[in-house]
Amino acid sequence: MKVKNICCIGAGYVGGPTMAVIAYKCPDIKVTVVDVNEARIKAWNDEDISNIPIYEPGLEDLVAEARGRNLFFSTDVEKAIDEAEMIFISVNTPTKTYGLGKGKAADLKYIELCARQIASVAKTDKIVVEKSTLPVRTAEAIKSILDNTGNGVKFEILSNPEFLAEGTAVQDLLNPDRVLIGGGTDEDGFAAINALVEVYANWVDREKILTTNVWSSELSKLTANAFLAQRVSSINAMSELCEKTGADVSEVARAIGMDSRIGSKFLKASVGFGGSCFQKDILNLVYIAKSYGLHEVADYWEQVVIMNDHQKRRFAVNIVKTLYNTVSGKKITFLGWAFKKDTNDTRESAAIYVADDLLNEQANIAVYDPKVSDQKILSDLNYLETRSEAENREGIEVNQDPYEVCKDAHAIAVLTEWDEFKGYDWQKIYDNMKKPAFVFDGRNILDGEELRRIGFVYKGIGR
Ligand code: NAD
Ligand code: UGA
Repeated sequence: MKVKNICCIGAGYVGGPTMAVIAYKCPDIKVTVVDVNEARIKAWNDEDISNIPIYEPGLEDLVAEARGRNLFFSTDVEKAIDEAEMIFISVNTPTKTYGLGKGKAADLKYIELCARQIASVAKTDKIVVEKSTLPVRTAEAIKSILDNTGNGVKFEILSNPEFLAEGTAVQDLLNPDRVLIGGGTDEDGFAAINALVEVYANWVDREKILTTNVWSSELSKLTANAFLAQRVSSINAMSELCEKTGADVSEVARAIGMDSRIGSKFLKASVGFGGSCFQKDILNLVYIAKSYGLHEVADYWEQVVIMNDHQKRRFAVNIVKTLYNTVSGKKITFLGWAFKKDTNDTRESAAIYVADDLLNEQANIAVYDPKVSDQKILSDLNYLETRSEAENREGIEVNQDPYEVCKDAHAIAVLTEWDEFKGYDWQKIYDNMKKPAFVFDGRNILDGEELRRIGFVYKGIGR
């Protein structure tokens, strides 16, 4: 079967870029991305392409080319479901904040709503693709809902997890290490798998398109994120030991990374990993393991998150201790708020937690981030519910000018590794700061020696 019409439910960080690339690479397939969030869809349709809601290098060009040709953004979910042969579910699956599994399990309410909507609307057979990251065996639940509430049409469920990283989403999608497709093992299952393989084969080498059973595919996604996050927590654990022993974590990372069995990627010590998925997916893995009674497995993976929380907290503590045990009333400037460079996404960013700790110490925080709005920064802090909105507003100031934001600060903390920070006139920044002028480089991106020569007290991570 050749797919001619795709619908994607969820126009977020995954649905938007993924579908833009499919539409760009497959001009014969009509791709409609739908969302209940009207403002988001409006932004995707904005005539001024720079207003699309997600910032990713290269994304504007793809959308500009495909939008209106074979890529459409709409709030008419039912129409898009009705017309499509293949429906991707790309909605959010956050950590549950209530009830059973609160704080660990994935909240599947949006997934279930999608399944019920697909079932009620579909009048022809559909292939339903799990694009969201889901607990292993979710396909079973989706299938049950579809078969029990549908109109008698046939549904095939595929798992096709997404491995893109934000900031490099377009490159990751155009040139993926692999595409993973899990499906049923009977004839209909194979036919559905093949239909999706043929979509990707328009631009991905067939050797890189892996097919597995559904459960392996679902679990591989959680495993991949757990392994990646574990590497960051492992190197961050070593960073603390480096600080005590005179070793330099960058040198250690380089030395171990040259062992081809270890590999050099994902060994950058930092203020802690952020992003919407690492923590959520590991906690979900922990919950699943516990639900099968596998307590040692659960504890093993939970440690990755515990280490990460420790890394964020000790960064804040280090600032307070270094500034003579008080930051009360002192201006501390944050360079960066996003959870990594080249994205406007701030979900679970380390910056939020470091700011929260420093606000508890009565610091005045000033923030500059090239892509994050001041409303977002404030709402990230409000979301923690540590203090009132008015108190947050009082304690935090956002400035669009990197030099202004550093003026009269006692310390600068680098929270995101934006390239532009390296090119600043650090002498000029130093001249306008309170003395001694401290820099806490949570990303190890600045030239520490040069900063010390200027007069800064420079502290990186793990050195
Ligand atoms: P997101 O919050 O940016 O986007 C999800 C969108 O789904 C939202 O716009 C929301 O309004 C919409 N939505 C929710 N329920 C809906 C419904 N019933 N009908 C229509 N629209 C609905 O989330 P995201 O970052 O794109 O993540 C989506 C999934 O992909 C998650 O499971 C996540 O774990 C996974 N994932 C994310 C990334 C990433 O880099 N962000 C990478 C790989 C996988
Ligand atoms: C991550 C995975 O890399 C993707 O493969 C996956 O699809 C995605 O999660 C997901 O499922 O959501 P992402 O979170 O967008 O992608 O970005 P990463 O590059 O993985 O960075 C995550 C966090 O770890 C960032 O805060 C980053 O700064 C930090 N990090 C990463 C480090 O501190 N050190 C490193 O060496 C690498």
